[in-house]
Amino acid sequence: MHSIRHLAIIMDGNGRWAQARGLPRSAGHKAGINAVHKVLRGCDEHKIANLTLFAFSSENWRRPRNEVRVLMDLFLATLKKELNILIEKNVRLRFVGDISAFDTHLQHRINQAEYQTEGNSGVSLNIAVNYGGRWDIVQAAIKLAQQVREGVLEPEDIDIEKFGASVCLSELPEPDLLIRTGGESRISNFLNWQLAYTELYFTNCLWPDFDVAALEEAVTWYAGRQRRFGQTPEQAKAAT
Ligand code: IPE
Ligand code: IPE
Ligand code: MG
Repeated sequence: MHSIRHLAIIMDGNGRWAQARGLPRSAGHKAGINAVHKVLRGCDEHKIANLTLFAFSSENWRRPRNEVRVLMDLFLATLKKELNILIEKNVRLRFVGDISAFDTHLQHRINQAEYQTEGNSGVSLNIAVNYGGRWDIVQAAIKLAQQVREGVLEPEDIDIEKFGASVCLSELPEPDLLIRTGGESRISNFLNWQLAYTELYFTNCLWPDFDVAALEEAVTWYAGRQRRFGQTPEQAKAAT
């Protein structure tokens, strides 16, 4: 069975989970935090070293102002409340996305959390906030263009490897498996570059209901995939 070195998750369905219970959408976002702990436990069990969670997209600013505020407050409160638990669990926490858009207090907490967990050797947990896959590609292009301007890179030397080294999470293997909860079968501008060869798993399970058993199901599904990377089934079989 091929191992999962990097799992990415689009945590969707919080609002519908809450609405189905006659609760405000914010209750769904709060309930979603439990699912994160369950998945972290599942990652330990399945020896998944890298986990990347989509928590807030660059398009989520379009939501009602109140919901955006609730989400920001929840990020801050969760960072305060859960950081020690993550440290105890030996989790290394990192954020991907344009955090400069957040208020300075939240930015400070984010930097602090990254700093305090930097030396941890357990699961590497990446939280994508104010992240957009297109933004990621554009920021990579800007970095490369700057190198060209500085005279340290020739435009014709830009290749897939160099470009890939400039996108977010380039130090990690690309995601082997993407899970999207909440029943939609779309990427919603998440890791557009990095998902080129990722196995995509869509489930109707709403994010707050996602647990170790649901992860197990996804991992079992993944184990049944044949990753061919353009080759024939026979070639791919010989390669594993
Ligand atoms: C995902 O749940 C959380 C964020 C996007 C922040 P949603 O809030 O999108 O929940 P649904 O899709 O409306 O049910
Ligand atoms: C994707 O969910 C973003 C996150 C889970 C953070 P959305 O609920 O924002 O996606 P769309 O708008 O339905 O595509
Ligand atoms: Mg949604």
